[in-house]
Amino acid sequence: MTGVVHLVGAGPGDPELITVRGARLLAAADAVVHDRLVSPELLAFARPGTLRIDAGKIGYGRSVPQAMTSELLVRLARAGLTVVRLKGGDPFVFGRGGEEALALRAAGVPFTIVPGVTSGTAGPAYAGIPVTHRGRSRSVAFVTGSSARADPVDFAALAAIDTLVVYMAGRTARDVAAGLLNAGRPTDTPVAVVVDATLPSQEVRLTDLAAIAASGVPGIDGRPALLVVGEVVALAMELAWFVGSGPAAGTEPRHAAARPPRRGRRRPGRETPVRLEEAVR
Ligand SMILES: C[S@@+](CC[C@H](N)C(=O)[O-])C[C@H]1O[C@@H](n2cnc3c(N)ncnc32)[C@H](O)[C@@H]1O
Repeated sequence: MTGVVHLVGAGPGDPELITVRGARLLAAADAVVHDRLVSPELLAFARPGTLRIDAGKIGYGRSVPQAMTSELLVRLARAGLTVVRLKGGDPFVFGRGGEEALALRAAGVPFTIVPGVTSGTAGPAYAGIPVTHRGRSRSVAFVTGSSARADPVDFAALAAIDTLVVYMAGRTARDVAAGLLNAGRPTDTPVAVVVDATLPSQEVRLTDLAAIAASGVPGIDGRPALLVVGEVVALAMELAWFVGSGPAAGTEPRHAAARPPRRGRRRPGRETPVRLEEAVR
């Protein structure tokens, strides 16, 4: 009997950001086929003896061809296994999850999709940047920088969007910034570069479009990074709450939210329903 493939979003890096459904499926899987960016701590959710296959890279940093990964999923399912295809962030956001689902459908293999927390919202959130905010941003677009050189990009259309979140912009950040400046975005438009978002090694650089157009994003060294462009970035000055431990290995990331509640404001017990009017009294 044919098995099943669950295309599961692993979240952006922090292993606690997988969904409950994703974690449950992972714990029940016969085989896990995972991306390179997936946290090793998440893989530990799988049962001992579960087949684990890294579909991220093969020798010399080359990527596994997509067709090979899709073929692998089909074969594992045809062997009757319950397979979790664990993909970074959300499988359907720059994750090629759609291609894998189409291949499974073409092969007649049953599948489900478990959405994940995409780095494009989690990264800004962990940097204290709401991607929309009343009075500052009413529109947001998630775009890829990887094709900024190869394909013509409609920068005029992008420049009209309040907040841009650019995935895979490491190499093309300068082109993206120059394109937005040429399309009329002001030189001092705030930009955040969020590297290793949600991980203890998270790094946030606050800068502007002119600086990115001049120098790009040096020193990323192959780590995953996002650009967040727009007025909302300035809110990070007030809302940054997560401080990665950076190079000081072994230290816990500090969470400002871990402060004890203020005296005299007792939190209601979880099982006690409290009406809104009572809660704000
Ligand atoms: C192939 S895309 C996969 C996106 C993924 N499906 C998602 O929903 O987040 C890889 C890109 O996502 C971004 N990314 C993924 N994880 C990240 C992280 N922890 N910190 C910063 N950027 C990240 C980077 O731009 C990276 O180049």
